[in-house]
Amino acid sequence: MTPDASDLLRWYDTHRRTLPWRSLPGHRPDPYAVWLSEIMLQQTTVKAVIAYYERFLTHYPTVQDLAAAPQEDVLHLWAGLGYYARARNLHACAKRVAELGQFPDTVEELLKLPGIGAYTARAIASIAFGVPVVPVDGNVERVTSRLFAIEDPLPASRPLLARQAALLNQPKAAQKRPSDFAQALFDLGATVCTPRNPSCLTCPWRPACQGHAKGIASTLPRKAPK
Ligand code: ADE
Repeated sequence: MTPDASDLLRWYDTHRRTLPWRSLPGHRPDPYAVWLSEIMLQQTTVKAVIAYYERFLTHYPTVQDLAAAPQEDVLHLWAGLGYYARARNLHACAKRVAELGQFPDTVEELLKLPGIGAYTARAIASIAFGVPVVPVDGNVERVTSRLFAIEDPLPASRPLLARQAALLNQPKAAQKRPSDFAQALFDLGATVCTPRNPSCLTCPWRPACQGHAKGIASTLPRKAPK
């Protein structure tokens, strides 16, 4: 059984986390806010990102402000988040977007920007522009491996997980709300379908979850021994 997108969206409508880069329900978020948060979230937890995100937006309310800032100031504000290549790419990307006049709104064009890979392009396209694609991060890989009881170990299973994840948003309900659907997957992975002790009893997708049916959900995704 394919999981029902409406069940996840209904759950999201009542359990949605309030995060500073999210728009109010029913409103399109600012692409700059989505991009900035996604770059910060690449290797850092939501909890650690929030203060940095707010500081950046206070200093640089628009992508043009960030583009015009001296690189040294940007790196200084980034200090503590680590992975400084991300900060340098962030600045280069802001300059490019300022030249373009706006963020591109397709996965293909977003991929051409500095610091934007497959995951981030899909996250921005779906969340900010409503393109019906599924951004596959660690949360979405975990949810997918459990839903379809995929026991092949990471990292070799990654292409299979991406193909299966792409099935999740095929239902019409998901195609109508790509931004909410992507964020609902993140929230499900972060709060219900957690790495250890998942809350299967409160999961909107429990009836469809093959991992749960087999009693192996909490052991997935498997990882190849190092
Ligand atoms: N992780 C990556 N992107 C996220 C988002 N937009 N909301 C919550 N967690 C995330």
